[in-house]
Amino acid sequence: MNNITIIGAGHVGLITGVCLSDIGHHVTCCDLDQEKVDQLHTGISPFYEPGLDELLKKNVNNHRLFFTNSPEKALSDADIIYIAVGTPKQLNGDIDLTSIYKAARMIGEYATKHDVIVVTKSTVPVGTNTVIKQIIQKTARKIRNMTIVSNPEFLREGSAIRDVFYADRIIVGSDCPESAAIIEEINKPFNVPIFSTDLHSAEMIKYSSNAFLAMKISFINELAHLCEKVGADIEEVAVGMGLDSRIGGQFLKAGIGYGGSCFPKDTHAMLKMSEEAGEKLDILKAVMNVNRRQHDVLVEKAKNYFGSLKGKRAAVLGLSFKPNTDDIRESPSILIINELLKNGVSITAYDPKAMENTKKMIGEKIQYAASIEETLTDTDMVFIHTDWDEIKTFPLSQYEKLMNKPVIFDGRNCYSLNRVSAYKIDYFSIGRQPHF
Ligand code: UGA
Repeated sequence: MNNITIIGAGHVGLITGVCLSDIGHHVTCCDLDQEKVDQLHTGISPFYEPGLDELLKKNVNNHRLFFTNSPEKALSDADIIYIAVGTPKQLNGDIDLTSIYKAARMIGEYATKHDVIVVTKSTVPVGTNTVIKQIIQKTARKIRNMTIVSNPEFLREGSAIRDVFYADRIIVGSDCPESAAIIEEINKPFNVPIFSTDLHSAEMIKYSSNAFLAMKISFINELAHLCEKVGADIEEVAVGMGLDSRIGGQFLKAGIGYGGSCFPKDTHAMLKMSEEAGEKLDILKAVMNVNRRQHDVLVEKAKNYFGSLKGKRAAVLGLSFKPNTDDIRESPSILIINELLKNGVSITAYDPKAMENTKKMIGEKIQYAASIEETLTDTDMVFIHTDWDEIKTFPLSQYEKLMNKPVIFDGRNCYSLNRVSAYKIDYFSIGRQPHF
């Protein structure tokens, strides 16, 4: 049996560790954050992800999953080492590879096995794995034979566990067929198709997949504007288009633009990579521009409706960048809130999971409510930013009851126009006709 160590117990690292241990591997997750490690020992995840706490507890109790903040303990006995540290966006938008290179140096210093396979899960620009290999070779004290495998992650926040067990594919990129075969074997119990390729192509597949999905979203968002002008309904258009299996129905949900820690960062990094390679990638530039504009759409609609927004009271439903996560990184909701504040609007917000993170980021600039009802009470307008089930299924009759005069700006098309028409609600959504 292989000893697997994962460097980084963030979203990707922890999910990978939990799922690999669940299919029977012996896994140690190493994170330098002592507080996080202490919490993980008790079987509680530091972030919200459906189903994670149960699997975490189960595998910790079964003694298959271990946590440590000591690189020495984590790496000395490891045969397979996954790098799953963050590659955050810097202030100028470029990707920060500091943690990746630090992990590589740690491997060189502390790994003691003769043969080691290093597997990169983190999203890194094409060519980074070659640099990781050079750093490890330069700093290696005991390793004699080290190979590197790119095994990019395709899980989504909010459905990460499901995405691992029911993935469409696993990508294994390596220039060493023997190492690729070992990683394929490790992943076999997931029973997911495996595509093996070379190192650089695997790195490229990750960026290209995220860029393509972002492109689908920007495409449908741009069509949504046209639908509003010509009297079509974007929801109907998306269904009709998606029925063509060459197009596919997923990622055609019009809204307030994509956010999160992946698409904005990865599209930027891919564009930079292409510019450095002397290529233009005009489509990607357009995708990013459309997305930026999409964040403004709801505020524009509100300004058109009210004239000035100064002094108005708004309810905001949903803060996370998508449902089923407490993550607010690059969340369109936060960007819209900031724009509303600039326009003199006072805001009360509610989110089922993301309020603590929002308080840490924007503090008391807005008020927080404990329920949707409390959020709506005595407000002039409501902005729906995240389509949590609790928000989507909230009865329309309550808006009538609780608001001064109900006006909804729905950035996620949560309600059907048919349903809305039964109420005295002024309702604006994305890519559909307004209802007065
Ligand atoms: C994304 C990819 O979907 C994953 O495959 C990938 O592994 C991950 O990035 C990553 O690189 O780590 P994630 O950012 O967690 O996953 O979430 P998505 O479900 O892709 O949503 C991203 C954003 O697009 C959200 O703001 C969501 O609201 C928006 N979106 C998504 C739309 O506006 N419309 C859609 O039809 C789908």
